[in-house]
Amino acid sequence: MTDLSVAKTMTADPRLDVEAIRRDFPILSQMINGKPLAYLDNAASSQKPLAVLDAMDRYYRTSHSNVHRGAHTLGDRATMAFEGARETVRGFLNAKNTREIVWTRGTTEAINLIAHGLAEHLQAGDEILVSHMEHHANIVPWQMLAERTGAKVVPVKVTPAGELDMESFDELLGDRTRILAISHVSNVLGTVNPVRDLIVRAKARNVITVIDGAQAVPHFQPDVQALACDFYVFSSHKLFGPTGIGVLYGREELLEKMPPYQGGGEMIERVSFERTTWNILPYKFEAGTPAIAEAVGLAAAIDYLGTIDRAAMEASEWALLERANSLVPSVPGMEVIGTAPGKVPVLSFKIEGLHPSDIGTLLDQQGIAIRTGNHCAMPLMDLYGVTGTARASFAFYNTLEEVERLFAGLQKIQRLFV
Ligand code: ALA
Repeated sequence: MTDLSVAKTMTADPRLDVEAIRRDFPILSQMINGKPLAYLDNAASSQKPLAVLDAMDRYYRTSHSNVHRGAHTLGDRATMAFEGARETVRGFLNAKNTREIVWTRGTTEAINLIAHGLAEHLQAGDEILVSHMEHHANIVPWQMLAERTGAKVVPVKVTPAGELDMESFDELLGDRTRILAISHVSNVLGTVNPVRDLIVRAKARNVITVIDGAQAVPHFQPDVQALACDFYVFSSHKLFGPTGIGVLYGREELLEKMPPYQGGGEMIERVSFERTTWNILPYKFEAGTPAIAEAVGLAAAIDYLGTIDRAAMEASEWALLERANSLVPSVPGMEVIGTAPGKVPVLSFKIEGLHPSDIGTLLDQQGIAIRTGNHCAMPLMDLYGVTGTARASFAFYNTLEEVERLFAGLQKIQRLFV
């Protein structure tokens, strides 16, 4: 049996105590198919530290009730925990105030909410600028909006290296552009888009800017005031928090103008059969009982991340990617898709003669978890002429030894099956 302590000590940056960090994530210390788990599927969903599990457990054991309703102690505790979590998220994003922080089920629901709310902003012939590297969640809601309004979804090109083609961007950002919806980081390529620059150019034309931060927040902390975007969205489960909750940051002025997304309790001020009026922000967008324990869990994840040296975390992730890149030539026929400088540690690849799903299955037999398929980015797959890729994605709790195991695994598969 492989000694797990090896995996723990091969830290990618000496400032980061990976051994201690890995103890915070109990799921990582297990055997899968007789081998120590190497969890390299963090872009799909990351693992949860004890701080998150404990915070949710403690909440349910001591404080659960419905929020904003109960005339009793538990109701107050739950409301305090829930609104405290909103304040934690506000601080994380550096939003001006908590009226700008709306809970959603995740990034997908957040983008759908925005698209629904911006319908009145569009007329037939208007354009919504996206890019070829978007996740389906940042394409399909806009197509649905375009269908309703007669607007058009226009994709900015991506270069062969996986960078946003700035010439194409400048060409397509035009008089008819009303909305720019773009990912901060690509889930397939790992490319970090120059969103600040894009926002400046869009704002010069009064274009509304929507940034999909789902793949950015696990790697760095965005500042929505510095970015000066109109909307920024992300999911908790990629940020080491629980599933089922996400965040929509929206500029207050725009949120005020947008109609509610769903009707029900919480989102109203007064209901009568003659006339119903809406609650104040952010509750106008939060119909029904919210995901209270999940909000508490997300806040715990953010607090946990706050205890880790961010610079060391980023340096460590960078070292993991560097090691992976240096090992690519050791696997004959392996080609990396997405080689933009400064990318986050996401490695999409294909290997001549092997189907991505076979790579995934054969790695799993060695205890190594990666994702395979189209990664909900079919237009990008079309652009690269593939139906899918294999994708290893790293987090700060991964080790150099795990990267090396990935490549040893790929070499083995290559030897046996090609
Ligand atoms: N969007 C997630 C991914 O890229 C699920 O895997």
